[in-house]
Amino acid sequence: MLDDGTPPGPEPTGPRLVAVKGGARPKAAEGADNALFVDVALLPAELEHMPLDRFGAVAVIDVLRATTTIVAALENGARGVVPVATPGEAYAWRAAAEPVLLGGERGAKRIPGFDLGNSPLEYVRERVAGKLIVLTTTNGTLAFRRVLAAGPGGGQGPELIAACLRNAQAAARHLWQRAVSSDRGVLVVCAGTNGWFSAEDAYCASVLLDCLAACGPLEPGDGARAVMRLGALAAPPLAELSSSRHGQTLLRLGFAADMDYCAQISVSETVPRFNAGVLVAAGGPYDTGSPAGVPSVDGESVAGEPAPAGPA
Ligand code: MLT
Repeated sequence: MLDDGTPPGPEPTGPRLVAVKGGARPKAAEGADNALFVDVALLPAELEHMPLDRFGAVAVIDVLRATTTIVAALENGARGVVPVATPGEAYAWRAAAEPVLLGGERGAKRIPGFDLGNSPLEYVRERVAGKLIVLTTTNGTLAFRRVLAAGPGGGQGPELIAACLRNAQAAARHLWQRAVSSDRGVLVVCAGTNGWFSAEDAYCASVLLDCLAACGPLEPGDGARAVMRLGALAAPPLAELSSSRHGQTLLRLGFAADMDYCAQISVSETVPRFNAGVLVAAGGPYDTGSPAGVPSVDGESVAGEPAPAGPA
């Protein structure tokens, strides 16, 4: 912490960041002039104290299971995913915008009246291709909303993406490019579980940082440094996920196949990015290149952009 109470990190208009291609990993080039500043918020609550204008790109991680489910939905051709905070908000979308699919969980189980739960294995092509999905989960979708609320808005906020183990490498490349081109850093936000630290999200963050380190030198903040150390001690991915508190809950509820799916590393090229209030596959047919925006059932995002996939 600096004397004036400012947390460490790059200045909003910091030194130019230069990508180094093909670098051996994972060397954290602390203090190097061309290093990319990267930090990790181990819980969304940390966002209250983090000036987001220091970051050109932000990744939300809820590896069990919201961000894995979002990647699965978009990989299987969904038009977009709207992360909302409550089931009531989801019902409002259904009332205003037919046809949408409502997905999500409470207590890891499908919400009554919803079309889908929060298992990525439900989001198959036959079910989701061409559809807009409104998703509410206990922690993951809330984490997105908290990042959007913490951002400067008006289209000035950072690029916001969803990351999980399955898209770790593709997500890291996307974050790197966006951060370098904005001369700002990368922030990884772990969703946690009901306000508690989640071992599985921290593990996933360590894998993402490894992939970022393969893009070029990093200057890690304290959160990133802690996560890298955890990652150095990690068990194999399935063991990491299964031994976490939420992993144990999912296993008790019979979601062992979800754990196997969520534990696969860098098998997907799909990067969900916020585009005017809706998560779409980056570079896909529904990506108009708009800034993040905020989900809004009346079709107006806070960024002042119409939400293209929203109701008329
Ligand atoms: C959440 O957002 O809390 C999770 O994705 C819960 C779950 O595993 O369904």
